[in-house]
Amino acid sequence: MQQTPTRETPATWHVLGAGAMGCLWASSLASCGNAVRLLLREPPAQARSLDIRLNGLDGSRREVQVCADGTGDASPILKLLACTKAPALLPALERIAHRIAPGATVVLLQNGMGFHEAVAALLPGARVFCALTTEGAFREGAFTVHHAGRGETLLGAWSQTDAAAAPALAAELGRGGLRVRIAEDIREALWKKLAVNCAINPLTALHGCPNGALLERPALRREFDALCAELATVLKGLGHTDIATSIGQDAARVAQATAANRSSMRQDLEAGRETEIAFITGFLCERARIAGLPCPLNEALYGAVRERERRAAN
Ligand code: PAF
Repeated sequence: MQQTPTRETPATWHVLGAGAMGCLWASSLASCGNAVRLLLREPPAQARSLDIRLNGLDGSRREVQVCADGTGDASPILKLLACTKAPALLPALERIAHRIAPGATVVLLQNGMGFHEAVAALLPGARVFCALTTEGAFREGAFTVHHAGRGETLLGAWSQTDAAAAPALAAELGRGGLRVRIAEDIREALWKKLAVNCAINPLTALHGCPNGALLERPALRREFDALCAELATVLKGLGHTDIATSIGQDAARVAQATAANRSSMRQDLEAGRETEIAFITGFLCERARIAGLPCPLNEALYGAVRERERRAAN
């Protein structure tokens, strides 16, 4: 008897967050035939179609049509790509948790750590994946994104039980042209990125300087080197020996490669937005405290960024 071939039914991709990354990914997913629905912080009363304007790497300008969910939308979410900043992630997921279907694919694309466990606990039936991206994109207006630099996205399952599904998911996410690669060990990759962010982001935010100044200005260089030395000791104490060994070189390489850039934390602080410090330096300090490892420089930077956020909010 002939068997009916089982076909993968394409499901709608819901994209949470319409910042630069949300718009870049939503347009990429929609451009290869997926139905895409944006979940906005302030949804329209009724679902409505909207155009994402994408200014591409090659200077091209395209408009890609997606749909924004309305306030009353209650359809099940089977595939979710979460592109909010780390502090906004859990509150946003709590608002839509009732719609996330058992077995749904949830991809988290945030800087920092400390929220993955909470997401897995909030959505026990979902398959949670983590992604790290070096795509360069910035927002030029509402639903207008400039794809400024080609990077790549590393993907891995948060839980080993979902690891087998990662290659097909990477292929699906990459179909629109963004490069997606499977990480051998996504948790270690998250730690490595976290360590570099701990070295660059708070210092550039507090000094209001471009990333390259950490290497070029002698006083900043001393602070940066001392911070990297402390990070190396803490990371080693936490068992991340390889990352500990190369953190000084890795952070200097990234600061050099992005010398003219304003780090994301500097941008957030200067714009009066909440930064991701709790999920970067704050997470590291918490892990160090639990392990009984002193980290006074990181503690001081954490406190200073928090204080500046508080002042900006008042
Ligand atoms: O957060 C950022 O801004 C970036 O990850 C980097 C490269 C550390 C600093 O620009």
